[in-house]
Amino acid sequence: MRILVTGGAGFIGSHVIRRFVTKYPSYNIYNVDKLTYAGNLENLKDIENCENHVFIKGDIVNEQFVNKIFEEINFDGVVHLAAESHVDRSIKDPLAFVKTNIIGTVNLLNASKRIWEKDNSTGKRFYHISTDEVYGSLGPDGLFTETTCYDPNSPYSASKASSDHFVRAYGETYNMPYVITNCSNNYGPNHFPEKLIPLFINNIMENKPLPVYGDGKYTRDWLYVEDHADAIDLVFHRGKNHETYNIGGFNEWQNIDLVRLLCDIMDRKLARTLGTSQKLITHVKDRPGHDLRYAIDATKITKELGWRPSVTFEQGLEKTIDWFLANKEWLNNVTSGEYQDYYDKMYS
Ligand code: NAD
Ligand code: TYD
Repeated sequence: MRILVTGGAGFIGSHVIRRFVTKYPSYNIYNVDKLTYAGNLENLKDIENCENHVFIKGDIVNEQFVNKIFEEINFDGVVHLAAESHVDRSIKDPLAFVKTNIIGTVNLLNASKRIWEKDNSTGKRFYHISTDEVYGSLGPDGLFTETTCYDPNSPYSASKASSDHFVRAYGETYNMPYVITNCSNNYGPNHFPEKLIPLFINNIMENKPLPVYGDGKYTRDWLYVEDHADAIDLVFHRGKNHETYNIGGFNEWQNIDLVRLLCDIMDRKLARTLGTSQKLITHVKDRPGHDLRYAIDATKITKELGWRPSVTFEQGLEKTIDWFLANKEWLNNVTSGEYQDYYDKMYS
């Protein structure tokens, strides 16, 4: 099996790459990543010498590059994670999200279609990793299911919704063997410190303010990244073609409650008096178009594939915080861009 994983140097992608490379030694895993500010090969240092992991630096928006690697390697499967992934950045620069998330996905679909048409697509699979944010915002009640209508509110979620639609359209129009998963908010080791949990861990360590948007009553459903990687492994191998699966943590938290819990655990870990870190909480101007609540009904993947999260939120947070405390150098280098300079020189 020759499997293309896109975005494998990013947060979730690096956990997926590690799992596939170590669990399936007979697969050749080709990791294509542009190494944007969010991509970091340091995330994969422990497996850099594994022979079945091949890193290729490249941009999925570049059609010629995408066609070339497909012609050369003839992939049996695609696990597509490469994306611009941060809502706040999408508000500032929507076009970057259109390019990578929509055009990049269509480039991959076209290249897969071309080689699989020649070759009979039996046993092939295009797997798009997507988000629950495509469904828009919930009120105080209810859950997103696989049949909830798409209603994206941010440029990020609009670009992911669009790429989901393209994947589905290629399934209907060209019989592309595809599967899509829509997952809730992830957290865990290697999370880039621009998203809520790693940013706040970093700021607490550095005694910096914790900028809670608006009143902090916004709700997210948090899932430990290894549990997402586990679900991706299951869906890639056992999911049904032309289906979508929702993945979630059964774990809703209002931001303000989550931040208070994080502060208290950090006080304990850093041997600070309980309440010290909570003093850093600062309510700031709200995010425009801020979705009130996301929550996933993950019954389908649980019933059909037997998936469930393996850790509680408290266990996952402890593991995450311990990882960040033990990897201050990773954090410093990521925030200073030092790895980027190093890999840019290496792959230029
Ligand atoms: P991330 O931002 O940490 O990583 C994205 C990776 O994609 C980086 O390594 C980056 O270098 C690479 N990349 C970006 N543009 C590229 C391009 N044009 N060509 C090649 N590579 C490029 O993102 P993440 O949080 O790991 O998310 C991975 C995927 O999972 C995304 O598709 C995202 O929409 C989806 N997702 C994320 C979450 C979450 O909570 N983080 C939840 C559900 C779904
Ligand atoms: P984020 O981690 O950016 O994920 P997403 O927007 O994709 O859900 O944000 C999670 C929640 O935390 C969201 O409601 C916005 C909020 N938030 C803050 O209050 N302050 C911050 O500095 C950040 C980054 C997010």
